[in-house]
Amino acid sequence: MIRHSIEDALMLTLTQKTLVQETFAMIAPIADDAAALFYRRLFEIDPSLRQMFRGDMAEQRKKLMQMLTAAVKGLDRLDQLVPVVQTLGRRHATYGVNDAHYDTVGTALLWTLQKGLGPLFTPEAREAWATVYGLLATTMKEAAREATVAA
Ligand code: HEM
Repeated sequence: MIRHSIEDALMLTLTQKTLVQETFAMIAPIADDAAALFYRRLFEIDPSLRQMFRGDMAEQRKKLMQMLTAAVKGLDRLDQLVPVVQTLGRRHATYGVNDAHYDTVGTALLWTLQKGLGPLFTPEAREAWATVYGLLATTMKEAAREATVAA
């Protein structure tokens, strides 16, 4: 079977992709509430992050969910998704986001999914989301690092 090299490296299986897409579809109807829950939790874990968000939080919630929607859909087309996520990563470096922040955001994201999905957030679904978030975070961090080296 021919697989994308990034998928191979991160061991994102077809089942994991499906689990992420299906569970995200369940969250979609409550997207704004989920995003609000996410930011509340994020700022609880690390209150110092709050001052990095300078824009309107209603807009930010929308942008986050739109990007996650595109990313989850994009798991079927990693060749198209990766450049978008790389550009997102480079923008994040300009917001002052560092590598450690990605762990905090990952923790807040998994917590939010647990809250939103309850028992539907099975250990397998959690593992799948952790893998997909890892894929996004690694791609963003690497692009940010390359941009810094090139500058
Ligand atoms: C998979 C991970 C992430 C996704 C999908 C994501 C998504 C987004 C999106 C779509 C925006 C809107 C602006 C833009 O497109 O550049 C944004 C802005 C921002 N994100 Fe993220 N983000 C992620 C990780 C992080 C992390 C780890 C931090 C660290 C705290 C962070 C902090 C911010 C900040 C400070 C802004 C700018 C807010 C403002 O201008 O007020 N993000 N993010």
